[in-house]
Amino acid sequence: MIECKNISYSYQDFQLNEIKVLENISFKIEKNEKVLLLGINGSGKSTLLKLLNGLIYAKGGEYLFEGDLVNKSYLKKNSKTFRKSVSLQMQDPSAMLFNPTVYDEIAFGLKHFGFDNIEDRVHHYAKTFSIESILNSATTALSGGQKQKVLLASLLCIEPEVLLLDEPTAHLDPPTTGWLVEFLESLDITAIVSTHNISLGRELAQRAIVIGPNHEIVFDGAIETLLEDMPTLIKAQLVHQHKHAHDKVEHKHYHLHSWN
Ligand SMILES: Nc1ncnc2c1ncn2[C@@H]1O[C@H](COP(=O)(O)OP(=O)(O)O)[C@@H](O)[C@H]1O
Ligand SMILES: [Mg+2]
Repeated sequence: MIECKNISYSYQDFQLNEIKVLENISFKIEKNEKVLLLGINGSGKSTLLKLLNGLIYAKGGEYLFEGDLVNKSYLKKNSKTFRKSVSLQMQDPSAMLFNPTVYDEIAFGLKHFGFDNIEDRVHHYAKTFSIESILNSATTALSGGQKQKVLLASLLCIEPEVLLLDEPTAHLDPPTTGWLVEFLESLDITAIVSTHNISLGRELAQRAIVIGPNHEIVFDGAIETLLEDMPTLIKAQLVHQHKHAHDKVEHKHYHLHSWN
């Protein structure tokens, strides 16, 4: 369903130097697969998700969606179908909420893509995300977790085939994170979920793609295998080293990042 072939991407700094943020990225993702995209801050996760959402284009290599090369001319012709198929939840939910009320926010995509029974659909998704009581609230007056739920409801109600989630649990409390993980698991949808929180992995997906600090893929495979692979975890900086003093003997060992 999704294929990246040798993708590279760079941003320009103020001196117009190209700063590489993705290098040699290649992978295939099948329909209904759930994949965790891991990497430390700045490794390029958000950039890759924007690329997969057609918001930016690869500077090298190719991105194929269902066999079609996604580039400017493809999106010019297929913008509406592609936008309905591939949904991205950006890292900052506030940046994506632009309607006056929660109801309007969820209804917006439904109207845009010509769905019928809009009111029923809005209520159905509001119920799924337990946000019925805030349907008439202003989107600007919500907590981080509520914004996240409204955003997910507004993305899922248009029934996309691919859901790209950029650090979706950053604003969620532990019970809501648990609920989201189970909910995503139950959906027949292709999902790519970025996080630097490796402890989310086991529940959310079987497969992990890890981008290293060098912006290249350092691991693509089963999460269980990754968790046993300390050299790769160290290389990707997904573990950190602690110093401990036990009976005056200081020793160091590695820990998984599992806070947030
Ligand atoms: N719009 C931008 N302009 C310039 N540099 C950017 C821009 N967006 C991201 N970057 C840089 O690209 C690198 C990768 O960023 P990002 O994809 O956001 O990583 P991650 O999501 O893994 O934290 C970072 O060094 C970041 O500062
Ligand atoms: Mg990011």
